[in-house]
Amino acid sequence: MTLDITPSGQACGATVRGANLADLDAGEVAEIRAAWLDHKVLAFPDQQLTDSDLERYTLNFGPFGVDPYFASIDGHPHIAAISRLADETSSLFAENWHADWTFQEFPPDGTCLYGKVIPPHGGDTLYTNQQAALEAMPTDLRSRIEDAVAIHSARGGYAPDGAYGDDDDDDRSMAIRPNESAYATQTHRIIRTHPETGAQTLYSVLGYIIGIEGMDDAEAHALLGELYGWQIRDEFQYRHKWEPNMLVMWDNRCVLHRATGGYEGYDRLLHRTTIGYNAAVREVASV
Ligand code: SIN
Repeated sequence: MTLDITPSGQACGATVRGANLADLDAGEVAEIRAAWLDHKVLAFPDQQLTDSDLERYTLNFGPFGVDPYFASIDGHPHIAAISRLADETSSLFAENWHADWTFQEFPPDGTCLYGKVIPPHGGDTLYTNQQAALEAMPTDLRSRIEDAVAIHSARGGYAPDGAYGDDDDDDRSMAIRPNESAYATQTHRIIRTHPETGAQTLYSVLGYIIGIEGMDDAEAHALLGELYGWQIRDEFQYRHKWEPNMLVMWDNRCVLHRATGGYEGYDRLLHRTTIGYNAAVREVASV
């Protein structure tokens, strides 16, 4: 198979046609992996996928990741419903820039989202290419983060006193499950080498990053704020527009993403799987 790949023309992202994601052979998986590493966000329109197909597709790229704060859908322990009802008044889920679960020791390599109910307008997902952001970064800012080790935590979102915690809005339709484990911390360097492409990239963002090792909070937050302003500049972004039956997969190791609103009065439902940390590709890359 040769995939039909149309780059978005923006800082990352491509639309891919010519593959049936429910029935791929090894050669097709290898082509998709190469395109994923190249474009960082891939969109596959017109895919008829059951939940079992979505799980099987995900496992082509690594093990399932651990989703610590979502309840799964019935019968599919690795699928979470990203849902919002037409009349829901809760705060928008995932509206802040982030990479997924960076507070874990071995954060996920990627994420798959499959569009089931898509509103007629609004609800785009935004991405920002963190390899491009690092490549274009002014030397002065880069020199201040070159060896910095960031402290990550899920507490701002998923602790009992976090945004999705005990005081969260009553009518949230998503099954978010906050708990005390969100207070834990984990460190990762701010500049990391992508394990498969070898490219250097910025990793994560203020929000899940709550401090920098060896730096006092005031200095760290000033630096993280300045860095944030650079990470999300328009020229590094891709705006993804959804269609029903479209699958999108992104590379959590080198892009940030965020949800957007603008679809009040309409339901929105996507099924999500997490591509976990894949030790096998790291072994191959290090040979
Ligand atoms: C997510 O961050 O998993 C959801 C993104 C979206 O709803 O657009």
